[in-house]
Amino acid sequence: MMNEMYTRYAKAYAEAVKDNDYNAEFERPTTLAMLDRAMPDLAGYRVLDLGCGSGEYVAELLARGARVTALDLAEPMVDLVQQRFADDDGVHCYQQDLARGLPMEADGQYDLVLSSLMVHYLEDQHPFFAECARVLKLGGHLLVSTHSPVADAGISPSGNYYAREAITEQWDTVGVPVTVTFYRRSLSEQVGALTDNGFVITALEEGTPTERLRARSPDTYQRLATQPNFLFLMAKKTR
Ligand SMILES: C[S@@+](CC[C@H](N)C(=O)[O-])C[C@H]1O[C@@H](n2cnc3c(N)ncnc32)[C@H](O)[C@@H]1O
Repeated sequence: MMNEMYTRYAKAYAEAVKDNDYNAEFERPTTLAMLDRAMPDLAGYRVLDLGCGSGEYVAELLARGARVTALDLAEPMVDLVQQRFADDDGVHCYQQDLARGLPMEADGQYDLVLSSLMVHYLEDQHPFFAECARVLKLGGHLLVSTHSPVADAGISPSGNYYAREAITEQWDTVGVPVTVTFYRRSLSEQVGALTDNGFVITALEEGTPTERLRARSPDTYQRLATQPNFLFLMAKKTR
């Protein structure tokens, strides 16, 4: 599903996530801490970044020594990443709708698939995680962050926690309200989409806001330190 947050507002989004509260002081530090615990050195590893946005994770992965293939649905995001890493041979970025799988990618070639804050835009995640499993090496890692099913249960239009539902909200990420549509689902559906495809979950977290956020935005820190917001899953391909 295409959201204009990532097309019309791509540049503003790219600017915002460099140093904002939710991405820079909560989501990325949690994801990167999980990555560094499981894979402390990415030198020589091949990594697939699915829903790469403006490339904040591409930069982090390169800094850890990885070669990165980065995909996104939104052409403006692909343009931003191609420009940002134009001089880096270790980056290959192209446009792909991940609801349609990974048709350009061969089997068993990646050590890590990273997908940050993208999978809630997919109505059915089962075929997506099947494709992640296909392109990973046996024993390869999958690291995913997404909306917390616990948090999103509170905004269910039907009140049925077990229903998969599209939700439309206005977000103020870029300084003006932008309409964003995503899917919410139950925790069992979220986890089943991985385990049904041969992944074993090796770590599950709900995020830790940074001390910098506590100093900078105490109200946001307090909310993120006491209420669920995102879900972080590290998994391993076992078959
Ligand atoms: C919240 S942004 C996250 C970007 C980046 N992963 C990060 O954490 O900075 C979500 C990204 O997922 C992309 N996206 C959404 N649906 C997609 C799809 N079906 N296929 C590929 N990318 C998609 C959007 O275009 C957007 O760039």
